[in-house]
Amino acid sequence: MAFANDGIFFGDMVMAEKVIFFDTTLRDGEQSPGASLNIEEKLKIARQLAKLKVDIIEAGFPIASPGDFEAVKLISKEIKGPVICGLARTTQKDIDRAHEALREAEKPRIHTFIATSDIHLKHKLKMSRNEVIKTAYEAVKYAKKYVSDIEFSAEDAGRSDPVFLHEVIKTAISAGATTINIPDTVGYITPDEFGNIIRNIKEKVPGINDIILSVHCHNDLGLAVANSIAAVQNGARQIECTINGLGERAGNASLEEIVMILETRKNYFALDTGIKVDEIYRTSRLVSNLTGIIVQPNKAIVGANAFAHEAGIHQDGILKERSTYEIMSAETIGLDRNRLVLGKHSGRHALKSRLNELGYELAENELEKFYNNFKELADKKKEIFDDDLLSILNIIEGVKTIPEAYKLVSMKVSCGTNEKPKALVTLDVQGKNLSFEGSGDGPVDAVYHAIAEVTGTKSVLQAYIVKAITGGTDAQGDVTVEVEENNHTVFGRGVDTDIILASAKAYINALNKLVR
Ligand code: KIV
Ligand code: ZN
Repeated sequence: MAFANDGIFFGDMVMAEKVIFFDTTLRDGEQSPGASLNIEEKLKIARQLAKLKVDIIEAGFPIASPGDFEAVKLISKEIKGPVICGLARTTQKDIDRAHEALREAEKPRIHTFIATSDIHLKHKLKMSRNEVIKTAYEAVKYAKKYVSDIEFSAEDAGRSDPVFLHEVIKTAISAGATTINIPDTVGYITPDEFGNIIRNIKEKVPGINDIILSVHCHNDLGLAVANSIAAVQNGARQIECTINGLGERAGNASLEEIVMILETRKNYFALDTGIKVDEIYRTSRLVSNLTGIIVQPNKAIVGANAFAHEAGIHQDGILKERSTYEIMSAETIGLDRNRLVLGKHSGRHALKSRLNELGYELAENELEKFYNNFKELADKKKEIFDDDLLSILNIIEGVKTIPEAYKLVSMKVSCGTNEKPKALVTLDVQGKNLSFEGSGDGPVDAVYHAIAEVTGTKSVLQAYIVKAITGGTDAQGDVTVEVEENNHTVFGRGVDTDIILASAKAYINALNKLVR
């Protein structure tokens, strides 16, 4: 019996090696333009990542801001199971701060990094190669006095001279690094090149087999997942990735795609992931809901169309035998396709237990608020799906966690075939009701003009996206807006069965975030 690669044949079963999943949604993922999360939102995501059974959660970059520091501290205290990691540059100040934030972690890791490409050395660091080697050594040694689990990253490794890169890695290992991470920071490398980089490191660097070799790929050319897979095929055993592929610029490698590649093609790769795959969909939705960054419908694994079959010939095949057009089932990732969850006769108990299944535990007063919103929606809408519940939750959480400078009091819109659309909007602005009647090219435009007048915002609306949650004409409208002010971009989201109201809520939600 032959196996594709390094699974060890053991009787009639394969003892597969494990790939370690290092999730950086809360650090690199939060660097996605517009994806700022508050501390409670970060804790919620960390809880869900622990349920997903990622091995390591990179909770933030503690020196970057007091908010980042507090988030890493809170996650260290609350989340047990995964290793909790904090990022630090190679300075003592950064490392002290990371250590301080990680103090209460059950399994703390300090992740320190310095660039190794000539471009970065010359233009950014203004350091010689020898200085970089010395700095890397001292940083790892310094971090080692705090914790035993140290990760060292050679930033822009993909564009670094291999001989110098090997020297830096050797030095970091000699100083005590337990994981060495090879980032393709700018997403420039192709899979065969990246595979060669990893194989060469495995073959040439002394001590490399005593540590975990990790990769961290960016998606500028759409190759982050392919590069990560090429790396594991050549000996990397830790993959750094994010939920929904969030991250700096075009994002990082997407966790759900890598996991499902390794799981769906297990006979080929003979590698274990340790990930609880049926938590994938829930995690993806939670991250999308909290960041306000929607998942593109055709995104692999978690996109709305990932398991939809449109062509008649495909539907016919699926009805005869699913495997004709499906390589994995929606249920595997925890997506229960057409499940009717609850209706207007459901009580608090059923609601609470469904919310628990979805990963949420609400306090009594929150459940009460939730229940009232749920009843309102159930009166308007026959069928309530999980997505509807999540959208109500979003509203409840919005009330709880985001200090609201503006609240919608009332809105009256008129439009028609021979009428200029008009909107009279009243907002509660710090306890005072302020109204304005705006007009525009359409009803949403009129509402937005009125809101802009009342709030006096100088922001610019960059994007407006509307989609329906679940099917049918009574589906909820889900509106996401991208708003920019003084080079600061935020996303706002609003959900309602009335899409004009959903649009108003999304805009007000974004303006509240700008104020915050
Ligand atoms: O992309 C990158 O190089 C990074 C490092 C800090 C690991 O995010
Ligand atoms: Zn990165």
